Amino acid sequence: MSGRTLIDVRDLWKSFGDNQVLKGISLELIEGETLVVLGPSGCGKSVLLKHIIGLLVPDRGEVLFCGRNIFDMSVKELGEARQHFGMVFQGAALFDSMTVGENIGLPAVERKGMRGQELETLIEDKLRLVGLEGLSGLRPSEISGGMKKRVALARAIALNPDIILYDEPTTGLDPIMAEQINELIRDTQNKLSATSIVVTHDLHSACFIGDRVALVESGRIEFVGSTDELMDTEDKAVRNFIARGRANLGPRESDRAGLH
Ligand SMILES: Nc1ncnc2c1ncn2[C@@H]1O[C@H](COP(=O)(O)OP(=O)(O)OP(=O)(O)O)[C@@H](O)[C@H]1O
Ligand SMILES: [Mg+2]
Repeated sequence: MSGRTLIDVRDLWKSFGDNQVLKGISLELIEGETLVVLGPSGCGKSVLLKHIIGLLVPDRGEVLFCGRNIFDMSVKELGEARQHFGMVFQGAALFDSMTVGENIGLPAVERKGMRGQELETLIEDKLRLVGLEGLSGLRPSEISGGMKKRVALARAIALNPDIILYDEPTTGLDPIMAEQINELIRDTQNKLSATSIVVTHDLHSACFIGDRVALVESGRIEFVGSTDELMDTEDKAVRNFIARGRANLGPRESDRAGLH
């Protein structure tokens, strides 16, 4: 890890009507790390990610990307900044009318005008990386939930982004498929040397893929630290969250957290 701050989230506030969702979130993403954002359903994880790529605008606060507030950027500048990002949306968000290959190739077609053999090669390369070689011609309706997540990952990494954002990559999958996706995420970090934010409420997944963990509860950051520090802390909110998530932990992690 080089220690350079790639993304600096500063005192982010966001409400929807009466619903105050983000209540002063501050968080740094360091180049080379995998930062896991943990938290219960509805605490604001997806809303936070959407601010980080500029899909939502905060009521107050900043998101600095390489030192510049993305909410001060022009549409063109924001578009350029987004080229550095790949995003795996919660629920995959594939286009059903397109084939798997067309879904994966979409960013390359739209952003780079890529066509022909170069495009085919890119699609096959990325499909191989996620273990789905030869399935380019299928439609999303013809593949399983786990395969859809892998296609979404292949699309997110198609242009070798510097930063990959994953929203609940393992939610809704059976344990074996979830483990495969966890391994794929770890593999991808190693192969691409990308910096990542992984949003999840799965503690096991967090321990497996994360370097650091941020726990969000009710729109606030309750804790930030290494996965070891997460397991060792006496912070009450963290202990409660871990106790609730213990069903997700493997024996070694349960041991580590003193949950026997
Ligand atoms: N576009 C929106 N308009 C209005 N309310 C929204 C919008 N997006 C999110 N919310 C609300 O913000 C809160 C946080 O939502 P968010 O999707 O960030 O939760 P989450 O932590 O990602 O939950 P989950 O783990 O279930 O995905 C919820 O109360 C949700 O209803
Ligand atoms: Mg969410």
